[in-house]
Amino acid sequence: MERKWWKEAVFYQIYPMSFQDSNGDGIGDLKGITKRLDYLKELGIDAVWLSPFYKSPNDDNGYDISDYRDVLTEYGTLEDFDEMQREMHKRGIRLVLDLVVNHTSDEHPWFVESRKSKDNPYRDYYIWRDGKDGGYPNNWDSRFSGPAWQYCPETDQYYLHLYSPKQVDLNWDNPKVREEIYDMMDFWMERGADGFRIDAAAGFSKEEGLPDGIPRKQATGCEHYLNGPHIHEIYREMNQKVFQKYPEIVTVGETFGVTPEDALKYAGNDRGELDMIFQFQHVGLEYTDGNKFNLHPIRLSEFKASLSRWQVALDGKGWNSLYLANHDQPRSVSRWGDDQKYWKESAKMLYTMLLTMQGTPYIYQGEELGMTNTVFESIDDFLDIQTLNAWKVYVEEGDDDPETFLKAAKFIGRDNARTPIQWDDSKNAGFTTGTPWMRVNPNYTWLNAEAELADPDSIFHYIQKLIALRHESLVAVYGNFTEYEPENEALYLYNRKLDGQNLFVALNFTGEEQKLTVPKEILEAQKKSKLYVSNYDNDGVICDRMIRPYEAIVYEWE
Ligand code: NOJ
Ligand code: CA
Repeated sequence: MERKWWKEAVFYQIYPMSFQDSNGDGIGDLKGITKRLDYLKELGIDAVWLSPFYKSPNDDNGYDISDYRDVLTEYGTLEDFDEMQREMHKRGIRLVLDLVVNHTSDEHPWFVESRKSKDNPYRDYYIWRDGKDGGYPNNWDSRFSGPAWQYCPETDQYYLHLYSPKQVDLNWDNPKVREEIYDMMDFWMERGADGFRIDAAAGFSKEEGLPDGIPRKQATGCEHYLNGPHIHEIYREMNQKVFQKYPEIVTVGETFGVTPEDALKYAGNDRGELDMIFQFQHVGLEYTDGNKFNLHPIRLSEFKASLSRWQVALDGKGWNSLYLANHDQPRSVSRWGDDQKYWKESAKMLYTMLLTMQGTPYIYQGEELGMTNTVFESIDDFLDIQTLNAWKVYVEEGDDDPETFLKAAKFIGRDNARTPIQWDDSKNAGFTTGTPWMRVNPNYTWLNAEAELADPDSIFHYIQKLIALRHESLVAVYGNFTEYEPENEALYLYNRKLDGQNLFVALNFTGEEQKLTVPKEILEAQKKSKLYVSNYDNDGVICDRMIRPYEAIVYEWE
């Protein structure tokens, strides 16, 4: 396996609106990020993926960009960006930017022009169609509920939007659009960026003729744009025209709906496309018929099978990105751990898993503290467009059981991840001196960075240790993956191996003691073993034993 800096790095995702406010307006900003870089350095991360900070009317918190080459006024200026980036680089932290180019804001000057007339030079930057039989051009729906088409009376046509009507899909079949985007990518690379996380990366190429999709509960039409006909030509072109100019660049595509087989087409070694992708299988298991607001419980064996499949499928052929949370997902400890009695143990256990798998780990802001899902009293407490739109449809469809929806939204809604970072126990958790744009999770009084920095046994210090260990351990990064007892509904057991070095990982996903049986070949060989890491007091002698609630233990052996 070829060694690369981005394979050995640990990434940290910043969602700027909620990270740190520096001027009291209640909104996080770039100066706030700069102020907290020593904290990130102390955690030990190597690179930051920064969610969008560009000019935007914020219909979807910045994933609707109206100027790709400028900073959102509330976040600061280009000079603030330069300073932040300089300060990151000074500390050896690289900066990966969010590239949101499936769509622009409807307030982007290209679209303002495009909608004016059918012969406007920008008309073809977007996807315009006549209605069909007095209705929409086709039956596709938006990922944020409702139809994927918006009518414009100016020209009596509809435009396509796979997300909100304020997120207008670009026409990637138009070579001028592609050139504009590559140009803009150069702009940021020349300013010093180190790479891109590509938003909605599997959806750029729409099937010719935009045929009707198979009707589904959600995302009708997706078979006609996910992994579309020209998607791989696009990435090969982007690679040739942009990436190749910057040999140190890292690229990661956010690819909803891809399988490991698809992943190898985007990010297989020698494909000349992307370095890695974010897959969604392990975070979609609870959805019923693809509907994220209708959840069902899952078994541990399903969760493990999902993760293990990727470990094996990409080994030696591609490279995984690993995540348990981001700004679109709830908090990991509330989802797969226990955010009450075993809060600390279970958060540590989950990150032991993340940092002992093959792939590049991404830690979402606040996860290093074990931040939890927040408290929602009613639908009025939600701000996220996805949740609110889905709720509207739910109510319009006359569903008389709001509790099912609300229960799902509280558990899985994106707002859970967007509450301000809890820096200390002062008013508004030290996030702002003003009124925060989003309510702080009330548990900040005891769950905060200041408290964890002072506590040697904190989640922060444990994750710091995991990061440091990973930096010293090629087997944790590159080793192959073998799972044991896949049917075990309490424990996740696997071994990582590289050139005679091994890590045997045992994770208890329950709040009860369980019996740990060490795989015969590991036990039998009477290997020299050492403790690699554990979230409980432990020695390093591999043996059959009991494993405590949410215990994680990793043995190093030869
Ligand atoms: C994925 C982003 O992560 C999400 O926050 C956004 O709503 C959609 N793409 C649309 O840009
Ligand atoms: Ca601010």
